[in-house]
Amino acid sequence: MRYGFFDDNNKEYVITTPKTPLPWINYLGCNDFFTLISNTCGGYTFYKDAKLLRMTRYRYNDTTPDTNGKYFYIKDGDCIWNPGWQPTKTELDSYECRHGIGYSKFTGAKNDIEASLITFVPVDNPVELTKVTLTNKGTSKKDIQLFSYVEWCLWNADDDMKNYQRNLSIGEVEVVDSTIYHKTEYRERRNHYAVYSVNTKIDGFETSRDEFRGAYNGPDKPAAVIEGKLHNTIASGWYPIASHQINVSLEPGDSKTFVFALGYIENAEDDKWEKPGVINKKKAHELLSRYQTTEDFDKAFNELCNYWNGLLSRFHIESSDEHVNRMVNIWNQYQCMVTFNMSRSASYYETGIGRGMGFRDSCQDLLGFVHLIPDRARERIIDIASTQFQDGSAYHQYQPLTKKGNSDIGSGFNDDPLWLIAGTSAYIRETGDTSILKEMVPYDNDMSVATTLMEHLKRSFDYIVNHKGPHDLPLIGRADWNDCLNLNCFSEHPGESFQCFGPSEGPVAESVFIAGMFVKYGREYAALCKLMGDTAEEARVLGEVDKMIAAIEKDGWDGEWFVRAYDAYSHKVGSKECEEGQIYIEPQGMCVMAGVGVDNGNAKKALDSVKAKLDTKYGVMILQPAYTRYHLELGEITSYPPGYKENAGIFCHNNPWISIAETCIGRGDRAFEVYKKTCPSYIEDISEIHRTEPYVYSQMVAGADAKFHGEAKNSWLTGTAAWTFTNISQYILGIYPTLEGLSVNPCTPAAFGDFNITRVYRGVTYHIEIKNPNKVQKGVASLTVDGVEVQGNVIPFDGSKKEVNVVATMN
Ligand code: GLC
Ligand code: GLC
Repeated sequence: MRYGFFDDNNKEYVITTPKTPLPWINYLGCNDFFTLISNTCGGYTFYKDAKLLRMTRYRYNDTTPDTNGKYFYIKDGDCIWNPGWQPTKTELDSYECRHGIGYSKFTGAKNDIEASLITFVPVDNPVELTKVTLTNKGTSKKDIQLFSYVEWCLWNADDDMKNYQRNLSIGEVEVVDSTIYHKTEYRERRNHYAVYSVNTKIDGFETSRDEFRGAYNGPDKPAAVIEGKLHNTIASGWYPIASHQINVSLEPGDSKTFVFALGYIENAEDDKWEKPGVINKKKAHELLSRYQTTEDFDKAFNELCNYWNGLLSRFHIESSDEHVNRMVNIWNQYQCMVTFNMSRSASYYETGIGRGMGFRDSCQDLLGFVHLIPDRARERIIDIASTQFQDGSAYHQYQPLTKKGNSDIGSGFNDDPLWLIAGTSAYIRETGDTSILKEMVPYDNDMSVATTLMEHLKRSFDYIVNHKGPHDLPLIGRADWNDCLNLNCFSEHPGESFQCFGPSEGPVAESVFIAGMFVKYGREYAALCKLMGDTAEEARVLGEVDKMIAAIEKDGWDGEWFVRAYDAYSHKVGSKECEEGQIYIEPQGMCVMAGVGVDNGNAKKALDSVKAKLDTKYGVMILQPAYTRYHLELGEITSYPPGYKENAGIFCHNNPWISIAETCIGRGDRAFEVYKKTCPSYIEDISEIHRTEPYVYSQMVAGADAKFHGEAKNSWLTGTAAWTFTNISQYILGIYPTLEGLSVNPCTPAAFGDFNITRVYRGVTYHIEIKNPNKVQKGVASLTVDGVEVQGNVIPFDGSKKEVNVVATMN
């Protein structure tokens, strides 16, 4: 069942009922200022950091889901309604929500009034703009009232939810003309305030939530709206809000349009006040003056659309498969931008007050983002590397505002260091910019101990070399990619963090997954050493990689698949010897991607085992059989009920690893089968089962052991976005950036047909035509570049050209 449809021409998903199984959201904002917005106008806004600079309030775990947002109420006689349906939930005569790329549009109609909203954040200003158009579609005159509504968050979203003894006394606002200024804490240590304004004279305002709603009323029955009159109260403490009242008369056929602006302003420390107690509004006036007319609004909106069209044109496919075209050209790249911006901080499943930027998460997010805006990827790599410790280990997370590592979680996740190599290698393969390797980068943000980024990569690599266990495999530490495989934790009391309880590292527990990573990213590091002319280091690194391959072959192979790990007793995890959890997905994907077992047939065996034991119609499960009881020695993974999350859920993130691994052994049919199973557009028809947004990936789909097999959770912020884009663009469609240039080596289903790709790479636009006359799954027989046949798969890079035409014929 569907709740809408894709409108590919407009790059939109059109939701046709507000009653989707879960809130279906979108993200507004490209750089610093972000909004989450649901299909019923729920959501919230923050500047840079969802925890530390939260502008509007959201309510978690509320009994009515998704009830705080930026609302417009329309009062038409006794009928009060919202164009996005929430929060009054008055039945609408018509409803539509279009989530587009960086904007959302809503159209709601009731009793001959149509209200349409377009909302977005301009490319380069910290403001959310909403254009509201009210139209009288009937035959008699209408006198109605429009009320805006936002509830301010007192900036620190964490404290905002907990510290009422203080918070209920500190709320402060100012109101001048049509602009409401939120200035809580501005009197002391903050130098920023928020504004909510509209480009017309207003008929009233409200800044006190209690006045607006009335005692004991929810947002669905605001007393002042029912009364039809705001009371012009200046809030003092309690719950500051911002609401404008505009009385609107509409003759039949008439329309009126208003532009609302919600903005963030920062003042210099010595320029905060206009006079004692009155904030300096100069910058607010400057910001708001840019968006005073509908023409201003439309111009900024067009700029946003052009900006996105430019970004998305950097990778574009035309094939006979509409799902692939849609996901590759629009939604998958869009989600990569969102995960790059948010890491795992703010979604409808991540509260924005928990995790900031993840070290491993953000490094992986780069893989799907780097082709869009390489300069931002460069900056991010430096930020991430700056949270590394001198021994090569790293803070697991950092706060985007301060860019400092979070010491409450600390380090000890032994896969983290290697992901820095992955991200840096992807950046250099994309851009050819080796200057980044010579940048001086601090450790733990301490510039006095800075070294080059290249030295950071060396320490990343050596961290693994220096932390091996009894089988010469890497020690796992607190966890490797799988946050829930906590082999040194042994937690017996509720409330202890599985990740942080117990020692950060035991001397015994080892990870075959990290071993696979070490081979893959060790080789990428060696290639960078070679590129930089350090052949001695290259040889040393490749020697270490060979030792690791030998260790995997000796103690990391279980006969039919790769072992997952060794626990603190040196017992195997993910082996046929185990009672539960006999086979895990991660080492099968990572080891084969690294090339381990490709020559001796083990890769094929491992992937056949994955298919036989882990596959379901909704995707490949993370492990089998599910753990049915808590295993003290394995940690959080066994705390989840069977079929959920890391305990035998379909963890979408590592499905593309299996798909990529299949391309490594040339099986395009199977690679694509795995791709399709979790691909949002392919499963749109089962939205009632899947439940999350049909235009983006979710972190997890419940596995075969779960009660709700096929149901997804945790949409949007998942490494699945970047890995899937890597998989489809670089491995299945086969346009892979190497250090020397783009390589063309598709691995598609036999019946996939011919296709064309446009790829902007290092300033050159490549038009690549791929022909598959004999319906093979892999292998390029000939490659011509501007009419000239070249040897091998790599298009020699020539920066003097602007456009290059390539024809690859598979055979
Ligand atoms: C979450 C984390 C990610 C981890 C994964 C598996 O998605 O953000 O870092 O790798 O879970 O545990
Ligand atoms: C939990 C989740 C895991 C996530 C982690 C982040 O363990 O199961 O997916 O990565 O929290 O700390």
